[in-house]
Amino acid sequence: MLNTRITKLFGIRYPIIQGAMLWLSPAELAAAVSNAGGMGIIASSSFPTIEEFKAEILKAKALTDKPFCVNITTLPSRRLIQNEAYIEAAGNEQVKVIETAGRSPEPYMTLLRQTGALLMHKAARVKDIEKAEALGFDAVTIVGHEAAGHPGMDDAGTIVLVRKASESVKIPVIAGGGFADGRGLLAALALGAEAVQFGTRFMLSKECPMNKALKQFLLGKTEADTHFILNSIQNGARVVRTDFSNTVAAMESRGASFEEIFPFIAGTRTRAVLEGIDPNAGMLFCSQAIGLIHDAPPAGEIVDKIAKEAESALSDLSRICE
Ligand SMILES: Cc1cc2nc3c(=O)[nH]c(=O)nc-3n(C[C@H](O)[C@H](O)[C@H](O)COP(=O)(O)O)c2cc1C
Repeated sequence: MLNTRITKLFGIRYPIIQGAMLWLSPAELAAAVSNAGGMGIIASSSFPTIEEFKAEILKAKALTDKPFCVNITTLPSRRLIQNEAYIEAAGNEQVKVIETAGRSPEPYMTLLRQTGALLMHKAARVKDIEKAEALGFDAVTIVGHEAAGHPGMDDAGTIVLVRKASESVKIPVIAGGGFADGRGLLAALALGAEAVQFGTRFMLSKECPMNKALKQFLLGKTEADTHFILNSIQNGARVVRTDFSNTVAAMESRGASFEEIFPFIAGTRTRAVLEGIDPNAGMLFCSQAIGLIHDAPPAGEIVDKIAKEAESALSDLSRICE
């Protein structure tokens, strides 16, 4: 019932994709999602060396024979990471799908094509996914302002972006930003998307290597407990509201420079939050979808539940709309 061009393209059972998460989407999580019929994504930026990254791909291959994906994020804060070498490594290991996100993937196109992988690009502006289509990508993900991480700086919400994206390109569109369940998936399909990328939903899963105390902290939050910060330094991010994030927002309000703010938002600082139990040790990406999330079960159960709920919501709809 949930077959789309995305399920056919990637060879997966359900149009359910787990979003890449810096430090939080290793092989165990990606493989659990793929084994359950969705597609997991390993965040390459979590691995400081190529050797560690390759080992993670091999681990995923050992854990699943289903398709999985690796994400290459090209943001200013990751400029030290050699994206080319990571793309090459994914190609050498014959990873089925590579996702790019962040800045334009154009400089990497030759290398990306050489890998032979299916290519998807994630962006927050319709013009960026149109560009990705022109560059030859096989699929695109559009993320709205509700999303965790870096949902662009235009304040454009998911409903409008997904609808507009699906009218603007011919390649299949994946929707992201604020989705947590099967009803959301069905709504995205109705808007013209052919799959959903869930980030925050899988952050609250058993296989996500986040400290249990932090998971509990997040489970106590609602859709009103995130905010969008860092727009002033062109690196807008949706995070859970804490004393720490309020401090960063206050620095922005008084016009602090990138150099002043950067030490507060460096990825290593986020890692310190995730490894400890103190949500105020750094920034924690989190979407408005947190208001719909009340548990942290195994990722495979999440996939199953989303798929079943989307199918039953579809029959509910036909009753409602008699
Ligand atoms: C903790 C966390 C870290 C993330 N890190 C990345 C990243 O490194 N690269 C990336 O492209 N997206 C990243 N994202 C965004 C997700 O891949 C996904 O697109 C987004 O979470 C979808 O919105 P949702 O959270 O509303 O489901 C991150 C999301 C979370 C929750």
